[in-house]
Amino acid sequence: MNTFQEFAAAYLPVLEKAMQEAITPPDPRLALHYDIMAYHLGWRDEHLRPTRAPAGKRVRPLLCLLACEAVGGTATDALPAAVAVELLHNFSLIHDDIEDNSPTRRHRPTVWKLWGIPQAINVGDGMFTLARRALHALAQRHPPERVLHAFRLFDDACVALTEGQHLDMLFENRLNVSVDDYLYMVRGKTTALLAASVTLGALLGGADEATQDHYFTFGQNLGLAFQIVDDILGIWGEEAKTGKSAASDILSKKKTLPVLYGLNHPEVGQALRALYAGPPFEDAEVAQVLNLLDKANARAYAQQLAESYHRRAIAALDATGIRSSAQDILRAFADALLHRDT
Ligand code: IPE
Ligand code: IPE
Ligand code: MG
Ligand code: MG
Repeated sequence: MNTFQEFAAAYLPVLEKAMQEAITPPDPRLALHYDIMAYHLGWRDEHLRPTRAPAGKRVRPLLCLLACEAVGGTATDALPAAVAVELLHNFSLIHDDIEDNSPTRRHRPTVWKLWGIPQAINVGDGMFTLARRALHALAQRHPPERVLHAFRLFDDACVALTEGQHLDMLFENRLNVSVDDYLYMVRGKTTALLAASVTLGALLGGADEATQDHYFTFGQNLGLAFQIVDDILGIWGEEAKTGKSAASDILSKKKTLPVLYGLNHPEVGQALRALYAGPPFEDAEVAQVLNLLDKANARAYAQQLAESYHRRAIAALDATGIRSSAQDILRAFADALLHRDT
């Protein structure tokens, strides 16, 4: 396999099947609980009929499987981990959409919008636990110490993710957030799981500790670049492409990187700070914020920072000294994530 497309075509169906197995209802009375999960994962429509709706990019499992092959393993050795990281990611999105008051994800109404907050919380909790349970299948292919190591990586990422989400929400009501605070928050909410995904792949492919560390660094820097691009798309992305409601990050006063840059900018900072200190935003304030961010060139600043983390990610990949076609695909995938519009 030489291209990302070939790799994805070979492994996405395998991943999809393993994920479906992981969320099979044990009893017909529980159909709705699992069907809501299936809705979120793109397998059912809002009337719970089978469908193929946008299901996300599957970034984390692909990183996991690619890293496993890159270090000389067989992707299927990492399959339970790939299932686990994607289910964990989707659990976090179900809860994130409640936390962010987001009505739309992947072009469709969010779970809480359709089934209410109490069921959405519980469906998320269910998916979190199923993610962790999927990891147990590693015991069929790997020695106990390695399985324990995998659980450790996974659990550390879960803890970091909730820490990051905590800060992300906390910062909505604060003006004095530094770029350093922001990066610390992103290390939790986004990079921890991305870094764990690649490191799990390397571990399960049989890489030594030094090599795993390089993949971890790759994942961390890729995650920082990834979140900054997400921030840019959250403000300037096309709703038709991102599938998320435009300007919702601004409406909820999220301290995303372009906003932080604007808040500290010598020319527009004062006006922006006055807006952010004021009452909740309506459409008119969103337009004013966008105008000020444009004046400050906040988009270009964020893009440059994303590129610099991306370069660090590639340097960590190169530092492994590994040359393989999966490694080349991993590099190409990282490049594509930097330039994505969705
Ligand atoms: C969105 O992640 C949330 C972030 C951590 C930035 P993705 O952009 O990977 O979401 P999907 O799964 O492709 O929809
Ligand atoms: C989501 O972050 C990260 C997690 C769910 C941990 P965001 O809130 O920035 O992502 P989107 O824009 O809703 O996808
Ligand atoms: Mg959020
Ligand atoms: Mg969100």
